[in-house]
Amino acid sequence: LVSALALSAAADAYGAGAAGWDAAYSKAQAALLKLNQTEKVGIATGVGWEGGPCVGNTYAPSSIDYPSLCLQDSPLGIRYANPVTAFPAGINAGATWDRSLLYARGAAMGQEAKGLGVHVQLGPSAGPLGKNPDGGRNWEGFSVDPYLAGVGMEETIQGMQDSGVQACAKHWLGNEQEHNRETMSSNIGDRATHELYLWPFMNAVKANVASVMCSYNKLNGTWACESDAVLNDLLKDELGFPGYVMSDWNAQHTGVNSALAGLDMTMPGSDFNKPPGSIFWGPNLVEAVTNGSVPQSRLDDMATRILASWYLLGQDQGYPEVTFSSWNGGKATVDVTADHASVVRTVARDSIVLLKNQEHALPLRKPKSLAIIGQDAIVNPDGPNACVDRGCNTGTLAMGWGSGTAEFPYLIAPLDAIKVQAQKDGTKIVESTTDSTTAAASAAAAADTAVVFINADAGEGYLTVEGNAGDRNNLDPWHNGNELVKSVAAANKNVIVVVHSVGPIILETILAQPSVKAIVWAGLPGQESGNALVDVMYGTTSPSGKLPYTIAKQPSDYGAGWNSALVDNFVEDLFIDYRHFDKNGIAPRYEFGYGLSYTTFNYSGLAVSVSATAGPSNGPIVPGGAEELFQSVGTISVIVENTGEVAGAEVAQLYLGLPDSVLSTPPKQLRGFQKLNLQPGEQGTATFELTRRDLSYWDVQTQKWVVPSGTFTVYVGASSRDIHGEGKFTVA
Ligand code: NOJ
Repeated sequence: LVSALALSAAADAYGAGAAGWDAAYSKAQAALLKLNQTEKVGIATGVGWEGGPCVGNTYAPSSIDYPSLCLQDSPLGIRYANPVTAFPAGINAGATWDRSLLYARGAAMGQEAKGLGVHVQLGPSAGPLGKNPDGGRNWEGFSVDPYLAGVGMEETIQGMQDSGVQACAKHWLGNEQEHNRETMSSNIGDRATHELYLWPFMNAVKANVASVMCSYNKLNGTWACESDAVLNDLLKDELGFPGYVMSDWNAQHTGVNSALAGLDMTMPGSDFNKPPGSIFWGPNLVEAVTNGSVPQSRLDDMATRILASWYLLGQDQGYPEVTFSSWNGGKATVDVTADHASVVRTVARDSIVLLKNQEHALPLRKPKSLAIIGQDAIVNPDGPNACVDRGCNTGTLAMGWGSGTAEFPYLIAPLDAIKVQAQKDGTKIVESTTDSTTAAASAAAAADTAVVFINADAGEGYLTVEGNAGDRNNLDPWHNGNELVKSVAAANKNVIVVVHSVGPIILETILAQPSVKAIVWAGLPGQESGNALVDVMYGTTSPSGKLPYTIAKQPSDYGAGWNSALVDNFVEDLFIDYRHFDKNGIAPRYEFGYGLSYTTFNYSGLAVSVSATAGPSNGPIVPGGAEELFQSVGTISVIVENTGEVAGAEVAQLYLGLPDSVLSTPPKQLRGFQKLNLQPGEQGTATFELTRRDLSYWDVQTQKWVVPSGTFTVYVGASSRDIHGEGKFTVA
């Protein structure tokens, strides 16, 4: 953790903002002059699936000193290589609400990528955003809230790129479900496009992300990877993105159209199902430029963007060779894992959300006996990597499945870590590590306290696990988890439920059991799962995670879910997750931003100092958008005091309501947060810095972000519903 955090001090090795890009572009333009046509096309074209050591590889030119670029998954570590660190999933990083941990995780992943010779790490992800609670890949990203997701993107990208690897913000745009992802059209309104789905990508571009991956789906009827509106207009013009756009793997559908629409690199460069040579670019792009279908300037622009990103990251300065192959077990010739296990443990620990804690069930205090129940308490007996791309749900769940994975170097299961602690405490452990309800009941009857482990998995749609084709079939725990908890709760009066899950599950059956005293939400914690859980369950650290999404009382309360049609009209508009619950007066079970601690916090002294002028944000386009959007308009602050007995951390949250004149707008939206570590009796100040963007809505008439005039409402509190201070400010 320390070494990764130390990097944050070693400010922008690649130069700040536009200045860094300017220098990189000069170098790229000089290099471009030396390339012939075939070489220019080559650096924009993949060599074909399994044609090189990485999941994506380009052709190396011979006229300049530039490599076959190695592009490798994933958003939580380096896929198909070992040894590597299996980090907590994006959704857990989001649940920490901790900027420094988001950065540290990104920096540590970037160090591993660079050490292995990976030039481009294929993450982080903010698409899917997660409007469908059952969406298969939501866990790869940080949160269903665009503001939190945006901070996750920004910190992660800065961390990764400060370590020297090119980050890739994906998937652009609107790939919200796995079913039909390669045929589906996401028809999204202009405001929702901007205020929800594009928002976190603004942060990514602002953080100088080197590359963006366009998605499989269509947007408003046109493939994302050949949409002029989505690539040229939105991403390159409106957000001022100076890097390059690569296709998702086989998401390219035409050669000329995609080039004209703004695609810069095709991946993987062959089709999985078609004969070699059936590619859109390569020789076909050379031909298209020769016959005038694609202007020379467009090809030069592709090559320049790709080269500039490489220079931006300083990858021309002695970058390591690729030291593994994805296709033969991934054994690397170097060990890049360093002290990253401590980053994993810290992120996993601080992402744990304590949902319920009655009668001080937690923390555990040297119990005489403890029953540990459920298959989710142990490692898969066949090993943590038994299934390719984690495509099974056997044993404890610590990441979802699909391309967004890495190989576990080891996996500390809950039972492993609890046994170590029990040994110290003299606690007798009774085990039932199947999901059998009868065995569970007899184990539970034989101990003072019973801890039941349940889970819910999801992943990418090319794999179907237990009948779930990527997206989840329902929001219930898997393996009959409700019945398992019921049988334990019938046999023991002191039950703690631990949930490993990709997203929300419906908890009503479990909450209806009076014996269930505590619920611990551990998400997808990565390789240090058990250790992080013990840190929290035994009170070495107070839980401080907050939900990055809403947990509803019933699935229909979300008003969204994956659908089987070939068109999704995004009828939710701006009202996804808590925006929908707030607007429709639906009581969630556990609201967005919620999470308990072992201590208590008091909020006081809300101070609002905001001064902005109404109207659109203009100014030159910088990476991220119009320059004025990022101008400071003031701060809001609040004093938080730890009023309990033990140390703890609180995530103070700021929500804003826009003036009533802006019609059809969510009642409140997250626009700031800060995590404060506080000793008992200690006070801290949470300060939320606001920019014009935070006060704006997207005006579809003028096609600008506009700060409305009128009175804004300020809500500061411990969650989206636990508000401890309200204020107002007015914009004239
Ligand atoms: C398809 C996935 O959608 C994408 O996220 C991944 O990076 C590529 N496959 C490469 O594995």
